[in-house]
Amino acid sequence: MKSIASAPGKIILFGEHFVIYGIKAVLCSTDKRIIATSQFVDERIVRIRSSLGESEIGIESLDNLENVQQKFMRPFFHIAKKILMENSTKQGIEIAIESEIPAGVGLGSSSAACVAVTASVNGLFHKLSEKEVVKLAIEAERTIFEQNSGADSSISTFGGLASYDLKDGFQRIPSRNDLSFIISNSSQVHNTQDVVRQVRQFKEKNEDLFNRLCKEEMDIVDNAITSLKENDLNKLGSLMSRNHELLKQIGVSTEKIDVLINEAKKTAYGAKITGAGGGGCIIALVDNSNTKNTFDNLRKISDSFITKIDYNGLQHT
Ligand code: PMV
Repeated sequence: MKSIASAPGKIILFGEHFVIYGIKAVLCSTDKRIIATSQFVDERIVRIRSSLGESEIGIESLDNLENVQQKFMRPFFHIAKKILMENSTKQGIEIAIESEIPAGVGLGSSSAACVAVTASVNGLFHKLSEKEVVKLAIEAERTIFEQNSGADSSISTFGGLASYDLKDGFQRIPSRNDLSFIISNSSQVHNTQDVVRQVRQFKEKNEDLFNRLCKEEMDIVDNAITSLKENDLNKLGSLMSRNHELLKQIGVSTEKIDVLINEAKKTAYGAKITGAGGGGCIIALVDNSNTKNTFDNLRKISDSFITKIDYNGLQHT
């Protein structure tokens, strides 16, 4: 028996980093996915196979995840441990993870992997509700990134377009916008946790400025939600570009990112970093009128692709 689940990656339209300090973020899931396939094996082990590497440990050693050398694998072992314990099975499991999402560049690959692995492993026993999947996926991600806001796993599970904040969690944005974005990858791989730590240091040294930036971000997000409801791309794009200026001020842009942003802004409605920054990707808002020009210009200088909002979220076969 095989249990297969897939979950989409995401882009953050507004509010990355500020979301950690209580500000609302706006994000959507994308049409690139992680697919996880789980099956029982006779050995009492958990084996994980992915394009980034392979790792296996005995079921008895699952309590000691600190020993897992490839840190990015720890959340998957955590998920396996929790589900195996709950179902007190004698068998082991093998989990294969396939990805269409570039890793480590702010497109939500690790959260999508946690969501897909949770649903796939659990599918060997019974089906968890989406809320339960999200809960375990966030818990798993926090084994390597404690400050994780939970935004990525939520959008990957429920799909679509939503706002997220620490107090009210996931709130679907009711309009069904058919937005298109060009994603352009700086190919500078970032470590979200390190960039989040740098922002915390910035905040501690510049409390007043950071508070002002939080207020401005709140204003941008409120206006963005209204623009989404009105499907006003001009306004939405300029709010994205304004949001990028705030991200620059907190120090998460890079020279390469700024080159991409300037190029994108020549033809797109607006552009900004998506995700933690310190490298990673930018997103540029486009529609039929400017997709081709923006895409052609960006792909001359970096790896770029077009993406749309995915409204399906977690899929389980
Ligand atoms: O991991 P990334 O690059 O998608 O960034 C996530 C967004 C942050 O706000 C920086 C962190 C978080 O947990 O919300």
